[in-house]
Amino acid sequence: MALVHMADMLNHAYRHGYAVGAFNVANFDFLEGVLTAAEACRAPVVLNLPESHLEHYNFEMLIAAAVVGAQRAAVPVAINLDHGTSMKSAVHGIKSGCNAVMIDASALPLDENLRCTREVTDMAHACGVAVEGELGYVPWAENGDNKHTGDIAYTLPAEAKAFVERTGVDCLAVSIGTVHGLAHGTPKLDITRLSKISEAVGIPLVIHGGTGLTDDQFRKLIAHGVAKINYYTGLADVAGACIRAQLKEHPKGSYPQLTAGVRDAIGTEIERMIRLWGSGGRAAEVLKQCRPWREVEQIAFYNAPEKMAESETTATMLRGQETLSAVPGIRTVRTGKSLQPDGSLRYCWLIRFASQAVADHYRTNPAHLRFMDKALRAVTPDLLTIDYVEAE
Ligand code: 13P
Repeated sequence: MALVHMADMLNHAYRHGYAVGAFNVANFDFLEGVLTAAEACRAPVVLNLPESHLEHYNFEMLIAAAVVGAQRAAVPVAINLDHGTSMKSAVHGIKSGCNAVMIDASALPLDENLRCTREVTDMAHACGVAVEGELGYVPWAENGDNKHTGDIAYTLPAEAKAFVERTGVDCLAVSIGTVHGLAHGTPKLDITRLSKISEAVGIPLVIHGGTGLTDDQFRKLIAHGVAKINYYTGLADVAGACIRAQLKEHPKGSYPQLTAGVRDAIGTEIERMIRLWGSGGRAAEVLKQCRPWREVEQIAFYNAPEKMAESETTATMLRGQETLSAVPGIRTVRTGKSLQPDGSLRYCWLIRFASQAVADHYRTNPAHLRFMDKALRAVTPDLLTIDYVEAE
């Protein structure tokens, strides 16, 4: 089980002068490419699941695969919702399996960015989840072409200090000259500004738009407080080049022929970045110093009174399921009835909490207490519950 808290992972990188790669997972080839490369280099890694990719794939299915991959990995892994745009998407990301979220309200006026980031940070921290905020604006290449969405808005060091203090974010994405996607030539980076921001905030900094930077630029970024680098277009490009080469060789090739080698090409590019950013060989010390990410489950057994109609019991269960699954950090709520109707306890709940922090807050959550008092305890005094973590 190598899923770990992202804040711990980035703090280690920040303290020891290297950067963790955060690579976008666009499909299964990317997922396997990232994890295989990280294991080959013994590097901690972040799986980035961008909200904007939601229109291209089924988030729940891909994140389920990412969680399984992270749990089996021999290196520390965090799963981050990249560029979440709202409280709703942050809650959805955590529910689906992310253990870190980025809230990107950077296109909003400063006071709205502050308010929105603060609200998401409060919710996420109550779930034990790390938060990345963004201040300043890093433009995007539109549809993979060379035009960008607006101009760079550089992060101001004094604003960054106030932003971090008031929002409580764990790491901060800054704008110092990079762009997402294809840059026009090599981006010009404002390293003096980066250095002032780093001094002012004292937390790990994040660079978006890692593609297209030179080796020397990466070294300077890391020397001035950058502990997480987001990288995607470079991976999509090597994957595209690989498919084009296969197509040349097999003009009538089928899907497996055309995509053969994509995963390895992605992995090779990632290994190059990991070595350059200094995260290779760090897995063991990071694993030792990071809190492992562990879900908590609650099982509850209970009886309904004999006189209560089956339909009424079912309605109560479904109502509870709906109410409780809306609580941030609760991943699933399942209800069931015993296949042995003569057994002493005939009904059960299984609630999956994203973390211990969620289980702790759940005890005093008003929606939970209301449901217990009004619906469940009113009809059943026999309620047996146990919160547990998987034995290791
Ligand atoms: P690039 O696609 O430019 O590497 O940027 C990726 C990124 O910043 C994702 O958040």
